[in-house]
Amino acid sequence: MRRALLTFLIALLPISGYAMRVDNFVLLDHEGDAHELYYHGDASAVVIMVQGNGCPIVRNALTDYKALRDQYQDQGVEFLMLNSNLQDNRASIKKEADEWAIDFPILVDETQLIGESLNLIRTAEVLVIDPKGWQIVYRGPLNDRLDYERQRNEANEHYAAKALDAVLSGEAQAIEVAQRDSIGCLINFPERNQQHAAISYSKTIAPLLQENCVVCHQEGGIGPWAMSDYNMVRGFAPMMREVLRTKRMPPWHADPHIGTFKDDRSLSNEELQTLVHWIEAGAPRGEGPDLLALADNRAVDWPLGEPDLIINIPAAEVPATGVVDYTFPVVKNPLDYDVWVVAAALVPGDRNVVHHILVGSTESDDVEDQAERGFDNYLHGYAPGNESAEMPEGTGVFVKAGGNYQFQMHYTPYGKATVDESKLGLYFADTPPANFLRQTVAVNPMIKIPANDPAHQEQAYITFDKDAILYSLVPHSHYRGRSSNFELKYPDGTSEIILSVPNYDFNWQRTYHFVEPLAMPAGTKLIHRTVYDNSVRNPANPDPTREVPWGLQSWDEMLYGAVQYAWVDERSDAPIHDQQLSETYQFIGFMDKDMDGKLVWSELPRDMKKRLVQGFKAVDKNGDGGLDAEEFLAMRRDGEKRKPEAAAGAGGE
Ligand code: HEC
Repeated sequence: MRRALLTFLIALLPISGYAMRVDNFVLLDHEGDAHELYYHGDASAVVIMVQGNGCPIVRNALTDYKALRDQYQDQGVEFLMLNSNLQDNRASIKKEADEWAIDFPILVDETQLIGESLNLIRTAEVLVIDPKGWQIVYRGPLNDRLDYERQRNEANEHYAAKALDAVLSGEAQAIEVAQRDSIGCLINFPERNQQHAAISYSKTIAPLLQENCVVCHQEGGIGPWAMSDYNMVRGFAPMMREVLRTKRMPPWHADPHIGTFKDDRSLSNEELQTLVHWIEAGAPRGEGPDLLALADNRAVDWPLGEPDLIINIPAAEVPATGVVDYTFPVVKNPLDYDVWVVAAALVPGDRNVVHHILVGSTESDDVEDQAERGFDNYLHGYAPGNESAEMPEGTGVFVKAGGNYQFQMHYTPYGKATVDESKLGLYFADTPPANFLRQTVAVNPMIKIPANDPAHQEQAYITFDKDAILYSLVPHSHYRGRSSNFELKYPDGTSEIILSVPNYDFNWQRTYHFVEPLAMPAGTKLIHRTVYDNSVRNPANPDPTREVPWGLQSWDEMLYGAVQYAWVDERSDAPIHDQQLSETYQFIGFMDKDMDGKLVWSELPRDMKKRLVQGFKAVDKNGDGGLDAEEFLAMRRDGEKRKPEAAAGAGGE
């Protein structure tokens, strides 16, 4: 039977080979959410129906597909849809989903690479995949109810259900019919059957790698292997295919449909197709010189040039194993004059152990007082891929003479004891820039992520009370961070998502700099949201059984969205920034659940309720039943007048 089937198949398919095993992939769906196939490794089966806009067979089959889900999802079966159509895109698929009430995630295969590798031919085809070994155990129509231009009231044969029964009873091998002729709309794969072996390594592939990958994959770079010549690339070619399909490389995690960012390291759909097709054609060398072998690619310490000031961070001994608490070394500012910092770089001493470094300056001379305190001026954050940063045009960070540079160091031991000697390099402006670069953070220290929850969302927001310009964003969470976004809510009531990171990866802490800085009129709210995956399916999850609170260490979590901006009406010789007001907005932004700009009684944390049990009415000066930023700030300043020593400890990020 099986042999007959195979012969039949080979005769049927115009392509060589038959995808029985499905390699892993990551795709974004029509809502912009990321899906990784192998995430469902512990599912009892994964079912994918091929969708295509406007295909009557797909539309007609929806009820049956939903019925199949109703029948099997309680038994751990996952249901997805996949759109590989050349003519469809996220917006048109979303429209189709709305009009036809499609409530399955429709994975959008923009490069067609996944559809090609699955040998898709028609829409409406259903694939039943057994996650044990990732074999396709059935492909064909859902059932026998539909045919072109005729349909029955009810199906007699339930092919997909039969296949599922077999998988669920552990008899996937014994499925009698693994493939049936499908009906549906033919999908156009123009790249299929092309002579991909003709893609030139010399003219196309090597320059593409040089342009997009070599910055890290070179001698002394942060990539684990150097793309030093054709032989290296050929050896790693299958691995390259895997990391491209799963969107691990190049490390760039922003949804390409939202916003445009500087240093965008993602590949275009066309580049992805070219590279993967070349690999699938056997990564042929072809004729011509080998650019990678000829180029003298070598990482340099200071890609921005020799700094104006180099600060050596005190050496730290890092043990071979175990957990190293965050450290907060402080170095006296050696300069006795004021400077404007316009660029900064951090060079890790031992890249193996430096997870991240944050640096800022603090104005007080008291070294003892600095540990764990916030910065007065945030300067730069290092993580692999984020070595150096130039401040936006016309801005800089003002650092006064004296004071200290303060660091936050996070080390992750890697099996060998080592001593880390990292360095900070600073670049100064010759003449003061026009404006201050400001930094704030949308944080929520009150997060609580329930045990085993695969998609728990937390949020915080910042109100900009004066006209501002937004330059960059950094979404930050830990191992349970699944996706993050930032939304601007304008005073006129409109809103837009300005950055979405659907497939957050803790290993990559990146600053997203807008190519065109965004205007935030006074009253704009910047909302930061993160979804956490605290389930066993998250392979990075240290402990799914735990309710996770806020904490610096990686086994705890953070909701932390860093923001660089400038006040439109601020000038470097005429500051208008009010740090305490900024902190007040931060504070309101994580407690104000309904985001109306004020905290009503029920939104206050317990300790604050205790303190305000008598005084709420007095603080609520305008008597509207809620405390807004002005009222909070007045309360804080009142308190400081009464207790001057308490005021000294406030401040920082
Ligand atoms: C910003 C730096 C950076 C860029 C750009 C980059 N890589 Fe990587 N790459 C890394 C690092 C670091 C690792 C190891 C950690 C990881 O896998 O996340 C890695 C891992 C890999 C691996 C996996 C090695 C293994 O065996 O696990 C492959 C393959 C790879 N990169 C290919 C590419 C390709 C192809 C490109 C360009 C299209 C690229 N990388 C661009 C830094 C980079």
